[in-house]
Amino acid sequence: MDKFVVETSPNLQGSIRVSGAKNSVLIIMAASLLAEGECVIEDVPNLLDVHVMIDLLRSLGSEVHYDIEKEQLTTKVIDPTITDASYELTNRMRASIVVMGPLLARRKRANVALPGGCPIGARPIDLHLKGFRRLGVNVEIGHGYVEGRVDGDMHGNTIYLDFPSVGATENILMAATLAKGTTIIENAAQEPEITDLASFLTKMGANISGAGTSTIRIKGVEKLKGVRHQVIPDRIEAGTYMVASVITKSKIFVDNVLPTHLRPLISKLEEAGVIITPEGNGLYVDARNGYKGVDITTLPYPGFPTDMQAQFMAMLTVCEGVHRIRETIFENRFMYVNELMRMGAKINIDGSSAMVSGVNHLEGAQVKSTDLRAGAALILAGLVAKGKTEVFEIHHVDRGFVSIEKKLQSIGANIKRVQG
Ligand code: EPZ
Repeated sequence: MDKFVVETSPNLQGSIRVSGAKNSVLIIMAASLLAEGECVIEDVPNLLDVHVMIDLLRSLGSEVHYDIEKEQLTTKVIDPTITDASYELTNRMRASIVVMGPLLARRKRANVALPGGCPIGARPIDLHLKGFRRLGVNVEIGHGYVEGRVDGDMHGNTIYLDFPSVGATENILMAATLAKGTTIIENAAQEPEITDLASFLTKMGANISGAGTSTIRIKGVEKLKGVRHQVIPDRIEAGTYMVASVITKSKIFVDNVLPTHLRPLISKLEEAGVIITPEGNGLYVDARNGYKGVDITTLPYPGFPTDMQAQFMAMLTVCEGVHRIRETIFENRFMYVNELMRMGAKINIDGSSAMVSGVNHLEGAQVKSTDLRAGAALILAGLVAKGKTEVFEIHHVDRGFVSIEKKLQSIGANIKRVQG
């Protein structure tokens, strides 16, 4: 079993480059199923999840080539008659459910294995299915699969999301692009990845307005063509490396970011006394004078992102005072706290809140990643812990971070990957 071995790493320095966004590229790859013609996607990060989505697209009749060096992926639908997504593939990545929208729109049928839960929560898809039904899809669930069928044409409708679900917004948005008439998604998710998807679909010929706000309007069109698209930078990867600078009280440059996507993180870090200076395509993160603790509540965008909750928790474990983190998005996203406590952190969980009492220092220990962001948080903790930290179950980390150990080594971190 591979592991990361992390040792104390004071004074990080230099520049670290952010890759394309995982949660944008996966959905854009799914959206390529809508295109008649070839799509070329740029800044595609070499992540485990990208390779799962490549296998899924191929199983659904697309020809896919991925040039890892150029970070460029070309994909073209060769056989638009396949409508079954296998359990073997969808079970490897729950985000696979987002192929349903494109398949229903273009192939009028989709039979996808129900996504399992995962360590952070049950991850239901009721809002996805509510949207599909409102568009005229017959939805049936049985034998661990969800099957959608369209008799005739999908028709536009108004869909209110009880919760601004990212995946449901994306699935419904894609399904509506080829429906007859206008669809309005109310209480839609506003994450930058939604805006990136809408920009890709619009280039393909879709008629979309309001992406990035809570109301998205889609006017159905006849067909969509293949296009070239560059994926936005990964705001969560960027935030993770910003926290690496803060927790080690360093100054580093984080390159290839869109500051507007980082507003909640920049605001919180400045509240903690960190000096953030945008320059060119990146920003300097300077915590050489130390930092104060802050309270965090995770919220849908533009609120503080749940995917940065664990990284901030690591940061708070070694700063003075008692601070609170409230997780409002997922019901079980504190699993990794036990691992931090094995490193000497003092954290008290009460339902969806965690109270963190700062300690003088953490101690290196053997710990395991419980989800991809938690694994990154444990690495960050290892950068300041006294002694050696070994992080196991690192396949989770490789799902969401491109060569995290190489990128951290490039700014002076003592981390190495050891084949198990
Ligand atoms: C996306 O997941 C991201 N994944 C997650 O990133 C991210 O944490 C999450 O959005 C929130 O920002 C991808 O984009 C591939 P949701 P998604 O639907 O779409 C409830 C990472 O670390 N809900 O917004 O699954 C759900 O239970 C991953 O990169 C319903 O109740 O998130 C959860 O409590 C982790 N019914 C909340 O909404 C539904 O039909 C947020 O889920 C759908 C969701």
